[in-house]
Amino acid sequence: MATASTNGAPILVASNRGPVSYALDETTGELTAKRGGGGLVSGLSAIGPEAGAVWVCSALSEGDREAVRRGIVGAGPEAPPQKGGGGRRAGEAGVRMLDIDAATHADAYNGIANSVLWFVHHMLYQTPLEPVFDAEFRRQWASYETYNRAFAEALAEEAGEGAAVLVQDYHLVLVPRMLRELRPDLRIGHFSHTPWAPPEYFRMLPDDIAAKVLGGILGADRAAFLTQRWADAFTDCCHAVLGPGIPSGTRIGVHGLGADADFLRGRAHEADVDERMISLREQIGTAPDGSPRRSIVRVDRTELSKNIVRGLLAYGQLLEDEPSWRERVVHVALAYPSRQDLKVYRDYMDEVRRVAEAINSRYGTADWTPVVLHLKDDFARSLAAYRLADVALVNPIRDGMNLVAKEVPVVSDEGCALVLSREAGAYEELGEDAVVVNPYDIVGTARALHEALSLPVGERGERMKRLAAAATALPPTRWFLDQLHALDD
Ligand code: F6P
Repeated sequence: MATASTNGAPILVASNRGPVSYALDETTGELTAKRGGGGLVSGLSAIGPEAGAVWVCSALSEGDREAVRRGIVGAGPEAPPQKGGGGRRAGEAGVRMLDIDAATHADAYNGIANSVLWFVHHMLYQTPLEPVFDAEFRRQWASYETYNRAFAEALAEEAGEGAAVLVQDYHLVLVPRMLRELRPDLRIGHFSHTPWAPPEYFRMLPDDIAAKVLGGILGADRAAFLTQRWADAFTDCCHAVLGPGIPSGTRIGVHGLGADADFLRGRAHEADVDERMISLREQIGTAPDGSPRRSIVRVDRTELSKNIVRGLLAYGQLLEDEPSWRERVVHVALAYPSRQDLKVYRDYMDEVRRVAEAINSRYGTADWTPVVLHLKDDFARSLAAYRLADVALVNPIRDGMNLVAKEVPVVSDEGCALVLSREAGAYEELGEDAVVVNPYDIVGTARALHEALSLPVGERGERMKRLAAAATALPPTRWFLDQLHALDD
């Protein structure tokens, strides 16, 4: 059992990806820090710098590892606050970045977290041939345990007596139980940002591994989810794998993370976003009658679960079934690279490109490009697309929440119709005012796009107001504080 550090942190967060990353310039050896965004970063700002929180994360790149080696970012409990990009800064948590052996991290992150647990929860396997839980899987699982143990040990070292520890996501499911064994005094929460698989799918995992995944999370005082649906699936899996009841008295919670309206509305009106709007408007162009063309916008990481290819196919179907939209609409698809170490993600990106080009060569004319596809990550362009969208297409196969569905209504300039998959977590809160689709149904999605494009402007505006209200019901700061307070109970 580890002992509490004498002036240890009262609040800790643990996640694979931290709030800061470093790029190493090979020629000059200079390190540049980049600060990340997202719900957790905004949420943590609610407690302020005086709270003395510590965020434990993993070094992900060579730049991160170099930053740890140079002591720019905290590597241990004794590491002092640092200036110059990393470490402790006013208004932020201290960061402890773990330099876990690169091969171990790759096995844990690419091999287990992203290729097994992500696939299980999003139900992505092509089951006639996969998954295959062989000796290589067992080897990678051992690395996943090592990686989880490194987090548990770091948290045990950093935490003050009775501290609250919020462990994030499928990368770190074993941490709560490991940490509980090291430090029984801590209050531990685990939060799943993904969907949770139903028992019949979850039980594809070997029985002992399924029990370890659940048992790991059940080491926490509280296990929390983005929607009731995923929380129920988790308890169903516990009953199916471990027997009736939730052993160990772990409480189950639901916190539906909302959009960060204040940040988004401010950021969306900065000059770089205005510039991107001008250039997107040029790419969308005008219809033969001189009126501006309509736009169907999507913004995603090129992630298998986001269903970008079927979205494109549905758009092609719309042009086929409703030829009156030809030359009058453009599909703006912003599909940013993700998890490019995995071949299946690289292949998926190629397929997105191929289908977009096929639609353009089938329907395009001298002055109309039906699909405008951007593959380079650009946050300002995403916000510009949100502002000008007539229709937002959010059609994931399965998604923990999907914040794009919540952000568009908040930022939209003139009201935008939302086509939303019933398999996105956001459907629970936004379903009533969206045009809802079965993400596998191409013809149905094409019909939904037509309906959304045809919504009278007044109705579109009314729906958008209600969508924006629902989307901002639980801002990131309250989402974070609610979880902290729930751990006190
Ligand atoms: O949805 C789960 C999640 O961990 C998100 O919190 C995050 O946006 C996404 O996956 C990012 O994944 P990665 O760190 O692999 O890019």
